[in-house]
Amino acid sequence: MADDGDRHRQSRLFTDDDGGFDAERAREESLPVEDGEVIDTDELADHQTYLEGRGIYDERNRVNDLTGKEWKYATKSVIPEGYPPDLQHDLRGEHGGQKPPRLCAELIGRFSKAGDTVLDPFAGVGGTLLGASLCEHEGTGLREAIGFERTRRWVEIYETALVRENEERRERGDPPLAEQDMRHGDCAELIEGVPDDSVDLLLTDVPYWHMDELEQTRNERRTRESSLGSFGGPTADDANGESGDGDADSASHKAGAADGEWETKADWLDDMAAKFDRFADAVAPEGHVVVFIGDMYRDQSYEFLSAELAQAIEAAAPLTLAATLIWYDPTKDLHVYGYPFSFVPSMVHQNVLVFRPADDSDAT
Ligand SMILES: C[S@@+](CC[C@H](N)C(=O)[O-])C[C@H]1O[C@@H](n2cnc3c(N)ncnc32)[C@H](O)[C@@H]1O
Repeated sequence: MADDGDRHRQSRLFTDDDGGFDAERAREESLPVEDGEVIDTDELADHQTYLEGRGIYDERNRVNDLTGKEWKYATKSVIPEGYPPDLQHDLRGEHGGQKPPRLCAELIGRFSKAGDTVLDPFAGVGGTLLGASLCEHEGTGLREAIGFERTRRWVEIYETALVRENEERRERGDPPLAEQDMRHGDCAELIEGVPDDSVDLLLTDVPYWHMDELEQTRNERRTRESSLGSFGGPTADDANGESGDGDADSASHKAGAADGEWETKADWLDDMAAKFDRFADAVAPEGHVVVFIGDMYRDQSYEFLSAELAQAIEAAAPLTLAATLIWYDPTKDLHVYGYPFSFVPSMVHQNVLVFRPADDSDAT
């Protein structure tokens, strides 16, 4: 804790253009400001530490490494961020359903602590794994991440992307991103190798149920070309909520998303519920399960997949829904859907379901 002399020295670092003390900036960036008030660090409780520029950290924090000020911001139910393509996006973009690693890092920072273990059982090209590695340099510390992916190509892309990214980082003089534990295979089998209660955060992006036969839908669409075609954009049948890492909607139909073996939505929900029931054994009692899931619009109807998946998981697994967050991507392209006859949403958001183990009775 800083004594008065330290605090004075700290404050003098903040000068305005004329070299004078910039009180406003000092308040914002250096002095112990919490909830708009400068606090007396001598009066902090034993379990509180003032972290310069970040606010007061409470040692009793079991959820993450955030200070009170950062925690307040992190409780926002909307993440209004477009994540520019980076971290070898061109290579990872082959997947089509990949998530921005920095978005994953943001969620990892909210729901885990440095040194924690993060599991992604549907890892794709490694958005979660890269996010866990970014936390070492852009967050509060490295998380150990394990990924399961049954398509060898996606495993290889993760590995190649990491090598290339680290070559570029080396050239820039940045420290390398840690290699995470990507395992090739079916998550239903690989989960058997993960000890119970050993995962602090399960962060994943589920494979999608493709409404009926996608090809059939496309063929039907081709035969009933509507005036919408003159706008050059996709028709309403494409208006689903899957979005990748800065890609356009059509990306959701690329290989990464077309991985479902389920004939009906009920099959998909049953399979996901059973898998999450098994995954839940691996999650520590104070851990979290965080799941990306986009809603869809098809055949004149909104498919509220996020709500249905949340209900199916809660019914089958010992998990309680704590929140749904919205990732709103303001950079996503809008298309003309439905015009001028019916309202069809342009899906510029995805849902992020947040569960915690059902027996976490201490949670408020
Ligand atoms: C929506 S993608 C995840 C994308 C990932 N978030 C990323 O950033 O690349 C879902 C992934 O789950 C994989 N998958 C589907 N079923 C699986 C299973 N039973 N075991 C392992 N992986 C599976 C698919 O191959 C697909 O890559």
